[in-house]
Amino acid sequence: MKNIILVGFMGTGKTAVGKALAKRLGLRFVDMDDIIEEREGMKISEIFEKKGEKYFRHSEGMVARDIALQAGLVVAAGGGAVIDGENVKNLKSNGVMFCLFATPERIFQRTKGHTHRPLLNVSDPEEKINELMAKRAEYYARADYRIDTSDLSVNEVADKITEYLK
Ligand code: S3P
Repeated sequence: MKNIILVGFMGTGKTAVGKALAKRLGLRFVDMDDIIEEREGMKISEIFEKKGEKYFRHSEGMVARDIALQAGLVVAAGGGAVIDGENVKNLKSNGVMFCLFATPERIFQRTKGHTHRPLLNVSDPEEKINELMAKRAEYYARADYRIDTSDLSVNEVADKITEYLK
């Protein structure tokens, strides 16, 4: 069985949906950020702070390569993982890629109050969300399927993915 890869902006539900989907399908769930944190022995925010984003992206690339060598996983990719075309190629080589998306307003609602996302720890996170979403639109478009999660529950998104997989 191919991997199921969930990509999309921060706060679109990749982790919550990935966990629900994996449970339903009896597959193993992995979160790329968790793997990076485990390997580096540091939280993502600490990696950004101490080693910089470039270093983080390099680790992310290595994780994408490792995932391509495995099968039967449900993978929550980091929000920026699709920017590097190599990652998309690797993740798709053995996986079906779903892009979860939502309105900037909904993303702001879902992410405010959380501090573990270094890119949104800025004075104006709403502006940052709009800016990054616009910049990344073309990269998210590389997924095989797109699902608007703005007004859907975790289970409803998992239902849609299961339908696409039939
Ligand atoms: C990032 C998203 C985060 C994490 C890191 C960078 C991004 O993952 O990988 O903070 O560039 O969009 P989530 O999308 O799981 O929050």
